[in-house]
Amino acid sequence: MSASLQIAGIGKSYRVDGSVLPVLRGIDLDVAAGEFVSIVGASGCGKSTLLRLVVGLEGDYSGRIAVAGQPVAGTSLERGIVFQEPRLLPWLTVERNIALGLLNSGLSKADKAEAVRAHIDLVRLNGFERAWPHQLSGGMAQRVALARALVNRPKLLLLDEPFGALDALTRAHMQTELQRLWQQEGITMILVTHDVEEAVYLGNRVVVMRPRPGRIERIVDIGLPFPRDRNGPALLDARRQVVEAFAEALP
Ligand SMILES: Nc1ncnc2c1ncn2[C@@H]1O[C@H](COP(=O)(O)OP(=O)(O)OP(=O)(O)O)[C@@H](O)[C@H]1O
Ligand SMILES: [Mg+2]
Repeated sequence: MSASLQIAGIGKSYRVDGSVLPVLRGIDLDVAAGEFVSIVGASGCGKSTLLRLVVGLEGDYSGRIAVAGQPVAGTSLERGIVFQEPRLLPWLTVERNIALGLLNSGLSKADKAEAVRAHIDLVRLNGFERAWPHQLSGGMAQRVALARALVNRPKLLLLDEPFGALDALTRAHMQTELQRLWQQEGITMILVTHDVEEAVYLGNRVVVMRPRPGRIERIVDIGLPFPRDRNGPALLDARRQVVEAFAEALP
C-alpha cells in the first residue's frame, strides 16, 4: 500500500529574534506511489523542516502538500516518521514500544497484539519482545522505531537520518533491511541522509538541496534496477553526479 506525494511551491520561514528567517523556498517535488526518494543537502538547508511539513507536524507554510491527492492537514496514521534517534520509551518493553504506534488505531486488543507480533517478525526482532530499550544495540533500537512507524501500515514513510548514529557495518545492514521492507511492503519512502552512498544505493531518485533558503538544486535519477551492486560502476557514476550537485549547492 502506497500513496503519491505532491509538494508544490512550498515556502516556509521561522521568526527568530524578531526577524524572519526564510528556511524553504519554491520547493516542488512529485513523488510517485511506491517510489523511494532520497534527500541530501548541507546542514540547515531545511530537510527536517520539509519532512515535518509533510508529516503534518507544522501547518504554517505557503504552498501545497497533498498525499494521494488529499491536502495534508495535521498528522495522520497514513504518514509515518522515523527520526535519527529511536525515541523509545525506556520504561516500556520492545513490544509495548511498538504497540504505542497503534494508540490511535482503533484496532481491537487482539488485532493490536497480532499487528505487533507481525511487525516484530518484519524487523527480525523475534526473541526480544520483552527486552527493555537499554538492552538493545543501536541498530536493534532503530529497528523497533521502524516497526513502531510501520505498525499502522502507513502509505508514506518519512525517514530523517535514521541510520546516522550507527556504525558503518550496522548501517549497511539496516540499509538492506530498509530496502527489503520497501520492496515487500510497497510503501512510498522519503529518506533524508547525509550519506551520499546511502542516498544513491536506496533511491529511485536523489534530491539535492541547497541552503539559505532551502531550495532544490538538482534531482538525480538513479535508473538502476534492484538489488544494486554498491560498488558497481553505475552507482559510482550516480554518486559522482550527486557529489557534483552537492558541491555546486554549497554556499
Ligand atoms: N523551530 C524553529 N525555530 C526557528 N528556526 C528553526 C526551527 N526549526 C528549524 N529552524 C531553522 O531552519 C533551518 C533549517 O533547519 P532544519 O532542521 O530543517 O535543517 P536540516 O536540513 O534538517 O539540517 P541538518 O542536516 O543539520 O539536520 C535552520 O536554519 C534552523 O536553524
Ligand atoms: Mg535535519
